[in-house]
Amino acid sequence: MECQLVCTQCGRKYPTDELQLRCDECHEPLEVVYGVLKPEVGGQGSILRKFRAFYPFREVSDAMSLGEGGTPLIHSSVVGRQWGIDALYFKDETQNPTWSFKDRGTFCGIQHAISLGYKRIGTVSTGNMAASVAAYGARAGLETFILVSAGIPSEKIKPIAVYGPHLMEVEGHYHELYNESLRAGNRYGIYFINSDAPFRVEGSKTIAFEICEQMDFQVPDYVVIPVSAGGNLRGILKGFEEFKSAGLIDGIPELIAVQAEGCAPIAEAFEGGRERVERVRNPETIAHAIENPYPPSGNQVLRKLRQNGGLALTVSDEEILEAQGLLAQEGIFGQPAACAPLAAAKKLSSDGYLQPGDRIVLLITGSGLKVPSALDHLEIPVISTSIEGLMGSIGEVIGRR
Ligand SMILES: Cc1ncc(COP(=O)(O)O)c(C=O)c1O
Ligand SMILES: [Zn+2]
Repeated sequence: MECQLVCTQCGRKYPTDELQLRCDECHEPLEVVYGVLKPEVGGQGSILRKFRAFYPFREVSDAMSLGEGGTPLIHSSVVGRQWGIDALYFKDETQNPTWSFKDRGTFCGIQHAISLGYKRIGTVSTGNMAASVAAYGARAGLETFILVSAGIPSEKIKPIAVYGPHLMEVEGHYHELYNESLRAGNRYGIYFINSDAPFRVEGSKTIAFEICEQMDFQVPDYVVIPVSAGGNLRGILKGFEEFKSAGLIDGIPELIAVQAEGCAPIAEAFEGGRERVERVRNPETIAHAIENPYPPSGNQVLRKLRQNGGLALTVSDEEILEAQGLLAQEGIFGQPAACAPLAAAKKLSSDGYLQPGDRIVLLITGSGLKVPSALDHLEIPVISTSIEGLMGSIGEVIGRR
């Protein structure tokens, strides 16, 4: 499939058969642009094989797959009824191989890295993306560099270290680390699959493709997405746009970008009518996975949201934790960042923005098991008893003796 990398801001073009992660001219992110897309989907195998008409790969190595994607779209049975919304769904990305949506983009990025002959990959992350790249790097037998900020807790490091990457703790600002990683990648031949690398964004398209399939190609009215760097939202929107241009769907849902109050560069710029994001000085939220103070795709997310008619808004940590409890009532355990969409939907449904007849998909981006400390606030109602007392205790609970 013919394609090019095109700068999202100035339109400068680059070939896809070389590693180019941002625009040399304006330093904005690039995206893969295809010629005519054919409405072909289906078949067995990995997500890239199934949707191969929307990718440039001549060969896809399914041996690199860990079974990413193909996650369920779960109909809300509790919250939707409470709010009077019939068609409320959760796209449950916690069911990916390393328990977050990141595996889609990592799988896609690795295919591109291998097709260009790279033997080294890397990423800059402290959480989900680090674990994902480390896991897929191990599987593919590639030398893997994971750059994290100095001082991150060992609770977060160990689930990355288990896959055996080169782990580097780096002092300094996180957004500078992103840029420095690209320079190091150029010098040492390391393909950095960072948060908004063009082929990571290509991987996120499959979320949109699956939602279309799971809803019989009748697109939802809204898709609600927690946003940090902006790569995932860009990919999801691109997926809907490409299915539309291939003639598989008629419209494109409105996207709702959700950020945490304590770190909301995109939502603040959106609300202030600004075209560019400004760096947040002292980011602070329990939703660490969406705590990027200077999102590398922030400006592009702003451009796309305006075009799409979508929205960006914030939720507080308190609302996020409340949503985590609410989501658990549906049987789904999301990490704080992943619960932000439910917190936002609650706000938007109570103020009437979301209506009873709307069809809404909330993206649950990563598993709650990744951040057990987020539950420290809970008072856990445990009943202590002895074996001899057990019968009586159960009797008491169910009100029978
Ligand atoms: C659980 C979770 N949700 C949402 C996001 C935001 O995705 P993006 O950085 O592509 O905007 C991330 C990214 O790190 C994440 O780990
Ligand atoms: Zn440019």
